[in-house]
Amino acid sequence: MRKAEKHLLVIFGASGDLTYRKLVPSVFDLYTQNLLPVNFGVLGLGRSKLSSEAFREKMKEGIKKFAGTTANKESMIDSFLEKLFYYSFDPEVKAEYEGFRDELEALNQKLDAGSNYIFYLATPPSLYPVVPANLAAYGLNREDKGFKRLIIEKPFGYDLESARKLNRKLQCNFKEDQIYRIDHYLGKETVQNMLVTRFANGIFEPLWNRNYIHHVEITSSEDIGVGSRGGYYDGSGALRDMVQNHLLLLTSLVAMEPPAVINADAMRNEMVKVLQSIRPIKEEEVEKYVIRGQYTASEIRGKMMKAYREEQGVDPQSRTETFVAMKFYIDNWRWAGVPFYIRTGKCLPTRVTEVVIHFNATPHHIFADNLQHVKTHNQLVLRIQPDEGILLKSAMKVPGAGFNVQDVNMDFHYSDLSNTYLPSAYERLLLDCMLGDATLYSRGDALEAAWQFVDPILKAWQNNPAIKVYGYPAGTWGPVESDELIEGVETWRY
Ligand code: NDP
Ligand code: BG6
Repeated sequence: MRKAEKHLLVIFGASGDLTYRKLVPSVFDLYTQNLLPVNFGVLGLGRSKLSSEAFREKMKEGIKKFAGTTANKESMIDSFLEKLFYYSFDPEVKAEYEGFRDELEALNQKLDAGSNYIFYLATPPSLYPVVPANLAAYGLNREDKGFKRLIIEKPFGYDLESARKLNRKLQCNFKEDQIYRIDHYLGKETVQNMLVTRFANGIFEPLWNRNYIHHVEITSSEDIGVGSRGGYYDGSGALRDMVQNHLLLLTSLVAMEPPAVINADAMRNEMVKVLQSIRPIKEEEVEKYVIRGQYTASEIRGKMMKAYREEQGVDPQSRTETFVAMKFYIDNWRWAGVPFYIRTGKCLPTRVTEVVIHFNATPHHIFADNLQHVKTHNQLVLRIQPDEGILLKSAMKVPGAGFNVQDVNMDFHYSDLSNTYLPSAYERLLLDCMLGDATLYSRGDALEAAWQFVDPILKAWQNNPAIKVYGYPAGTWGPVESDELIEGVETWRY
């Protein structure tokens, strides 16, 4: 595998949760697989007054809890920790960048990192426009000596207008090919496998269109509630938190035209075309095509589950949705007339993310009565998590007299591949950025197109309080009203 050039990874907001749980453990995983360059270091930044020693101690704990690789874990931690450094300053204050730049340059000299820097913004989103402007003011966007890349976390904007503003701000200070907008769903191995399933198998691609596909269903359910993130979530809701980014990206991968090659431009050109072709849901149609829900208190198998409104940091009168189900169409040649259904929610019965392609039934049923009512039949299930894999449902004859038919599954689980290590999404994406490959990062225009679709829905909810927020007992499959959106309800409920 190609190794990254020497560089420093500079994390803003390094005293926070993301760095502790995801970023540093993923960098450690790359280290244990010998995928990092020798001249490499991580510089953590934050206002919290921490010494490099204290930062290392904290990160050691995070690595032990969250790193994925087990081989050589214990023996490699100490040598890895020597690559971590911490510097305390306030990234909102421009004048403080002088000291920061000196510190960075000293570390660059010490590690001989070639003035190649990746700046990772793991801060509250209010700082996403601020930090790049401050970096640029101190020349830290200039690539005359080494590369300068910027990774931006989600949420990317709060609505279309703020996303556009943020894009403009970023592009004033960094060139588009220096900007890496992360969506961890694109880093998931099984999400990328969708591309291989579609474009490396001659049997699927000819069927992948309106002539053979009846409808497409994309589900991402979580069995947990908002936990300690109530404060953030209450200002966001499921539509912004999951649909605008992760689920619309999944949609674009399912529906895109085959790119001529797999590279950042070709892939992202096709993805953005899908997002731009989604038929807008007008404000007056929102009630019909989008169902939102919020979990209420319940008792499941003797376990009491809190209502969303009782969660820490949540307004007791909140109308924020913790569940969304919607139906939409993609108005292009391939998908005309094929409904897409997506749904996501918290406090549902199980954690599962999957894409189900429902193929058309045979035009005439000649076998048993038990298939007569079914409008669709074969299903291809792309299971993203957990138990990652692919399953094809088809009809089989029940052995014995007559022609009774039943569904059977051809089933592949990644776990069946022995000795296969599934890298975490952050591990894959960090490595890609280190290699300068933005294929699995979102482009500004794709995010704007996704917001363009989501915006009228948010506006309708905001402008029309009569649009219902349906309650659903925690631990159930969301409001029953969401069932009415979809034909073939038997697959909608597991
Ligand atoms: P945290 O709140 O845990 O940490 C963010 C860090 O930013 C804090 O440790 C703090 O450090 C610093 N910070 C906070 N406020 C300011 C401020 N006003 N000025 C400067 N620095 C500030 O957040 P997370 O680590 O959870 O998330 C970071 C970003 O990543 C967020 O935007 C979040 O939306 C996004 N994200 C997080 C995920 C996760 O799993 N945690 C998943 C996906 C996205 P200090 O006080 O030391 O300066
Ligand atoms: C995050 C959302 O982006 O994705 C969370 O902010 C959600 O609310 C999470 O829980 C889901 O990610 P995953 O990888 O667990 O499916």
